[in-house]
Amino acid sequence: MSGPSSGAAVVAVLPAAGSGVRLGAGVPKAFVELAGVPMLVRAVDGLLASGVVDHVVVVVPVDEVDGAAALLPARPVTVVAGGADRTASVAAGLAAIGPDVEIVLVHDAARPLTPAGVVSRVVAAVRAGAPAVVPVLPVADTIKQVDPAGVVVSTVDRSALRAVQTPQGFRAPDLRRAYAGEPDPRTDDAGLVEALGDPVATVPGDPLAFKVTTAWDLRIAGLLLAGAAAGCADRDGVRAG
Ligand code: C5P
Repeated sequence: MSGPSSGAAVVAVLPAAGSGVRLGAGVPKAFVELAGVPMLVRAVDGLLASGVVDHVVVVVPVDEVDGAAALLPARPVTVVAGGADRTASVAAGLAAIGPDVEIVLVHDAARPLTPAGVVSRVVAAVRAGAPAVVPVLPVADTIKQVDPAGVVVSTVDRSALRAVQTPQGFRAPDLRRAYAGEPDPRTDDAGLVEALGDPVATVPGDPLAFKVTTAWDLRIAGLLLAGAAAGCADRDGVRAG
């Protein structure tokens, strides 16, 4: 493993310290295998294959630090222990990044099929001047707001809504500022930058960057990889390897 502060311009933090209770696989979610390869290895290799990421800081449960390092030989990665929630895990990853890093991406290990194009679009938008960038998709379903009893209160105008994916990209000083002073847990990092009043730009996401949360998602990801192995890669963009 080489260090993440040796002149690396773009470093990705990969929070992979979740327990994966909703997936019910009995091991931390990032270590669940997809077509024989752990999700976290797929996520790291996807980031590096984009050609725009110099180093990855992988954040795993404290008991899994050595195991994760053993899964990632000969790659520019650093493995560190995570925290009680995603925000604490990202903070631990950020603490491992040197002061000379220009751009930080934060990418869920649970999005193992994210295409390289999403990664490069995010980095390009940060390089073009945005302090924070998120990949997004339009919302396909009608969205209803409901009361605590589940009764519909209103129908939300979905044309102004976007579903947010990762990697999210930041100018390193802006993300450090957002994480200063133990922030409250959030589901995404751009939310912290938003809370500081900084603009958050969007770039097109990709359906393949979906998050593996449930057993159903894992099955879908496996089917997509099986299709890629059978020669459908051109159609769906998934790399079988
Ligand atoms: O639970 P959820 O799917 O929202 O987690 C998103 C990402 O955050 C996953 O990659 C998960 O491993 C990571 N995470 C973490 N530390 C935690 C909880 C979640 O790194 N304590």
